[in-house]
Amino acid sequence: MKISVPKERREHEKRVAATPDTIKKLISLGFSITVEKDAGIQSQISDNQYIDAGATIATDAKSVYENAEIILKVQRPLMSGEGDIDELSLIKDGAILIAILDPVKNPDHVKAYADKNISAFAMEFMPRITRAQSMDVLSSQSNLAGFISVIDAAHEYGRAIPMMMTAAGTVAPAKIMIMGVGVAGLQAIATAKRLGAVVSATDVRSAAKEQVESLGGKFVMVETDEEGETAAGYAKEMSDDFKKRQAELIAETIKKQDIAITTALIPGRPAPILITDEMVASMKPGSVIVDLAVEAGGNCTLSRPGEIVVTNNGVIIIGHLNVPSRVATDASALYSKNLLNFITPQVDSETNQLNIDWEDEVITGTLLTKDKEIIHERLKGGN
Ligand code: NAI
Repeated sequence: MKISVPKERREHEKRVAATPDTIKKLISLGFSITVEKDAGIQSQISDNQYIDAGATIATDAKSVYENAEIILKVQRPLMSGEGDIDELSLIKDGAILIAILDPVKNPDHVKAYADKNISAFAMEFMPRITRAQSMDVLSSQSNLAGFISVIDAAHEYGRAIPMMMTAAGTVAPAKIMIMGVGVAGLQAIATAKRLGAVVSATDVRSAAKEQVESLGGKFVMVETDEEGETAAGYAKEMSDDFKKRQAELIAETIKKQDIAITTALIPGRPAPILITDEMVASMKPGSVIVDLAVEAGGNCTLSRPGEIVVTNNGVIIIGHLNVPSRVATDASALYSKNLLNFITPQVDSETNQLNIDWEDEVITGTLLTKDKEIIHERLKGGN
């Protein structure tokens, strides 16, 4: 079967959906691979590296898409009116598309996949079961986002992070607070600790306490009997009383911080507001906020998507878009590996043919469209 890896054409996207390493493994499973020219260039992978791994290079979008039976992408293909090329129109009837498809926000795209008889898999819908951890793109990409958020903060912060005791005097360590301690938040804590900061963190899930403390951070949380975690392990929207007490706690804590990194998300809802205008106004000049939730509405009222805002009192608020793409080489390597781990169990090792188990939880969890129908539960009747 033929797998194609097109170049990513969306703004701020530097990643690619296959690396020479994963291509070698896909070839050994029996696939033939075509990669679009320059697809890996922004992840530091040259066309020659792909050729050495056994791939064929296609010189344009038409030739990468036209014969593809399986298309591996990072983001959803461009549709008519979204750019120079209508990539979707180039996909052949009956093809399989595997990518981060953002289907809830893009129902028109999902309908187009169905109309074109594409079997579309949204990798971000991967069930969070133990067996699927190696296929979990949200984890692999959030982990890198958590790392780079601290580096981005350090870059804007005009001061040193670790304590330094020198003959010329002592530099105090930076105080860094992480809000939201999922995958990104935990990596942000680990990174901030490695840089020598004094780290604290908060979450609505009490289970996060032990994880924060095991990384050497101080856990700060509203005392409550209210359960902040759903059965699936995600956060839920908290009561107004909890939110009020959490706001008081953050207001008291944040004015003493040098850097705040916010990562708080609630599935299917806008990101919770954790840092208000007044809290920003209480921070010291030169303090930095990184809002990793900016694309979901933001955890800070003053963050702006794609911008670095400097407030009147000198607080720097970073709202970078597509943060994993800022570490594109590693993000591509891990994402590609997630895709390989997703595809491998669906190949019959004796015949070297794709033999999808349509009942498998990782398939039913991610498959949006099949046989010209939208079949995913989350798209048929809300969440
Ligand atoms: P996420 O990206 O959905 O949210 C980030 C964090 O923000 C979460 O820890 C959440 O509790 C927190 N948060 C939400 N609202 C908040 C508020 N108002 N104040 C403070 N914090 C708030 O979370 P992510 O990274 O996707 O992880 C969610 C859960 O899934 C975690 O329990 C994680 O350990 C678990 N997980 C399980 C995996 C598996 O078993 N395969 C893989 C990855 C994560």
